[in-house]
Amino acid sequence: MAIFLDTGKIEDVEMYMRMGVIRGVTTNPTILLKSGITGGKAMIKQTSVEIAHIISPYPLSVEVTTNDPLKMVEQAREYAQWAKNIIVKITVHGPQGELENFEVVHQLETKYDIRVNLTAMMSAQQCLLGALAGATYVSLFGGRVNNMGYNCVEEIRKARKVLDDQHLQAKIIVGSTREVLNVIEWLEAGAHIVTVVPELLRGMIVHPYSKETVQMFLEDAKKAEEKLKT
Ligand code: E4P
Repeated sequence: MAIFLDTGKIEDVEMYMRMGVIRGVTTNPTILLKSGITGGKAMIKQTSVEIAHIISPYPLSVEVTTNDPLKMVEQAREYAQWAKNIIVKITVHGPQGELENFEVVHQLETKYDIRVNLTAMMSAQQCLLGALAGATYVSLFGGRVNNMGYNCVEEIRKARKVLDDQHLQAKIIVGSTREVLNVIEWLEAGAHIVTVVPELLRGMIVHPYSKETVQMFLEDAKKAEEKLKT
């Protein structure tokens, strides 16, 4: 079981690495944009290389920016040169349901020895096929599944069971976190990894009652120290 950080913000990656709580980082074009990373491929490369270095040997997922099969392979091969711990993210299919993405995944894993995170998946059946195609990671978007009116916990359970039953090596990453509660709940359901946005990770640690308790300790420590002086 592990927690990854779902961000492109270097300061957050550094902070949670110093705290020792994360075991990898995931990004996608939307996350990079939200993290303030603009400037095209040069900036994606610069940010990715920096994050990969900070978290090494833990994995960093970087997503291709095209759905053209040849270009996906070309980009994936380029990303894989940036750092040893880069995992290439490929979406499960194209925006119109184009199926070539699976061929790309299979080719990258088997012909080019490049680790792939097959992403944007909403169901256990997609995860199973991704694992069969050879993806190292299969990413299920828990929050989006729930937003569609399904319970992603069921999909996680089914995906984990079928992968274990068939001795498939792919690791399930559940992303698209929306609430603090998601993390433990999804890990308990069978996710190998939950990738969490920084705000939620903070929310997992900081508790109002813990704050109050710490405040009490500090005030009483002060009083006790003052009494010792008299
Ligand atoms: C995970 O790998 C994805 O990058 C991410 O969690 C998607 O989250 P969203 O549904 O908030 O866009």
